[in-house]
Amino acid sequence: MYQSKITGTGKYHPEKVLTNDDLSKMVDTSDEWIIQRTGIKERRQSDLTKDEFPSGMAYHSAKEAIENAGLEPNDIEMIVFSVTLPDMLFPNTASCLQDKLGITNKCACIDVNAACTGWVYGMTMANSLIQTGVYKNILVVGTEMTSTFNNWEDRSTCVLFGDGSGSVVLSRADDNDTAKIYDSVLSSDSSKLDALILPNGGSKSPVTAEILEKREQYMSMDGQVIFKNAVKTMSSHCATLLKRNNLTLDDIDWFIPHQANLRIIETTGQLLKCPPEKVIVNVEKYANTSSASIPAALHEAVIDGRIKRGQKLLFAAFGAGLTSGAMLLEF
Ligand code: ACO
Repeated sequence: MYQSKITGTGKYHPEKVLTNDDLSKMVDTSDEWIIQRTGIKERRQSDLTKDEFPSGMAYHSAKEAIENAGLEPNDIEMIVFSVTLPDMLFPNTASCLQDKLGITNKCACIDVNAACTGWVYGMTMANSLIQTGVYKNILVVGTEMTSTFNNWEDRSTCVLFGDGSGSVVLSRADDNDTAKIYDSVLSSDSSKLDALILPNGGSKSPVTAEILEKREQYMSMDGQVIFKNAVKTMSSHCATLLKRNNLTLDDIDWFIPHQANLRIIETTGQLLKCPPEKVIVNVEKYANTSSASIPAALHEAVIDGRIKRGQKLLFAAFGAGLTSGAMLLEF
């Protein structure tokens, strides 16, 4: 069996900044409420005239990840693209990205939808394909344009989300490499599908004039159900990974949880007994960018020098479904 390692990272966030004060002019909220409940100060919002839809944002983060891996676009043998609301229903967003990157080798392209957990699902699938010798270089992207399913008149959800993209290249490790993916765990609890849902706009319930009139084309969420399940499941998946790999939190250099909101991040860290100084947090700048949040936070910490080669990392994610996943690796 081969091992895989992260060889390159990249990220992209739209230029347009939407502050809490901007939102307080749109809905009945305040900077103070948003910071106290979520830790979020601002988020980025896509501009379609600048091609900031999923494949357009991913172009920038993927290009950077491929360059940082020391590869050419045509070295990529598969694109795994985590996205909740794709560019269009078909063709898939991974194929659109292949075109944008100028990849002409006809590499495999697939979209993954596991909501905010999608990138961890994608990494787990890509790791298996490298371990079994099918591919040597896979681009794993997490990109979300949450501003399209956000109801900008609903203060309980619109303050939480932002747009962005993060990418990594996962490559076959050399025999003498210590860097590798150690393990991952994935789950989904379908008993709570309604807790975070966008029920309309798919085949089961296409958008009609009536749905638009009632403004039911947007997501809805039971925040407290999400909160409780997110902290419980992410911390328990991390504990499982540590236990079955005979490691403790002392062995972990950095914990990168899904950047849902600061209270979820802090509570998960507390349940895991992870010292706050080991937790990577950037939710205050970008809000919840769903499946883009972990790869973008990873890239930021690699670029500013916090994350170094040889360090052990722990990722944990949670989202609609209710999906969840965690991954343990040496960078
Ligand atoms: N500004 C001001 N007041 C608000 C706002 C707002 N933006 N949103 C809600 N309120 C009000 C409510 O109307 C309510 O008022 P009421 O008491 O008069 O009825 C009051 O604040 C309390 O509302 P709650 O929903 O009970 O507030 P809570 O303390 O649960 O915080 C929050 C809400 C921040 C959404 C919290 O439940 C949470 O963090 N949930 C997790 C949700 C999440 O992160 N989802 C992301 C997607 S899933 C994922 O990525 C893991």
